[in-house]
Amino acid sequence: MPVSQIANLGVIGAGQMGGGIARIAAERGYRVLLADINLASAEAGKAKIERSLARGVAKGKVSQEHVDDTLARLVPVGSLEDLREADFVIEAASENVDLKLSIFEKLDAICAPGVILASNTSSISITRIGAATSRPGDVIGMHFMNPVHVMKLVEVIKGLRTDEETIARTVALAEDLGKVCVEARDIAGFAVNRILMPMINEAFYALYEGIASAEGIDAAMKLGTNQPMGPLQLADFIGLDTCLAIMEVLHDGLGDGKYRPCPLLKNYVLAGDFGQKTGRGVYTYEKGR
Ligand code: 3HC
Repeated sequence: MPVSQIANLGVIGAGQMGGGIARIAAERGYRVLLADINLASAEAGKAKIERSLARGVAKGKVSQEHVDDTLARLVPVGSLEDLREADFVIEAASENVDLKLSIFEKLDAICAPGVILASNTSSISITRIGAATSRPGDVIGMHFMNPVHVMKLVEVIKGLRTDEETIARTVALAEDLGKVCVEARDIAGFAVNRILMPMINEAFYALYEGIASAEGIDAAMKLGTNQPMGPLQLADFIGLDTCLAIMEVLHDGLGDGKYRPCPLLKNYVLAGDFGQKTGRGVYTYEKGR
């Protein structure tokens, strides 16, 4: 068993982030209970992980045996009640406050005392999520980056009432998953999105004001500042709806006009053009990856 006391790791949400977290944990030897709104969604998440692992085999990065062992440890489940056996839970459901509060309220009743309840939220207050439970000391932020199996960082967010032991156990797990942790305070946007999203928002302002073309802005930042993706391409990759939601959290939470979401970013979202996941954002994409 990789980190002692974690025989079963619960992961909630079989989408891009939850699927990525479940995948790396299973690859590292954890038995993972992957929950979604129903069994079919959880199984679809597992199938997506399988396709990504198969690409890894095709590229010669992992062996078929590694894939088979990983998949054998990944158990899709159809409800939160199935996480009763979990020793540590990471929630990566949609970024919706009411949904997350309701999930944590339920987890509090389902999971044994002392089980850590972590959220992969990119912007919702951990203190607020903790307050939805009777055990805020066990509630913590564990913010992975997309794509989870590639990016090294986990931002660890301490809510107002998170226990020190919870932090230590969370860091131990993240490190065992091969990640490097940075601890951040529970203030809107934490560290990564406090800095990343204003840069992306500013790239939309530059486009809005006609300073350069989209391709020009991205090339300038890729070639001029050595970023792997330009900010507009990265925004499409993250999801323009997500970028806008995080800008709104910064704007509301910090109350400073410098966080005002760019009207052009808002328009893309109003149009339903969320980026790569809808096939169209600043750029156009083929769907179905
Ligand atoms: N669309 C979707 N996934 C892609 C992709 C694309 N266009 N390009 C690469 N990927 C993903 C895939 O998962 C791929 O692995 P898989 O095929 O095994 O599933 C994985 O990246 C690695 O692909 P490559 O080996 O081809 O790597 P590249 O050299 O092309 O690098 C990259 C790809 C790692 C995505 C690189 O461009 C990069 O680092 N981009 C910046 C990513 C970043 O900044 N992420 C953080 C976002 S912020 C965040 O997550 C916080 C949240 O709160 C907003």
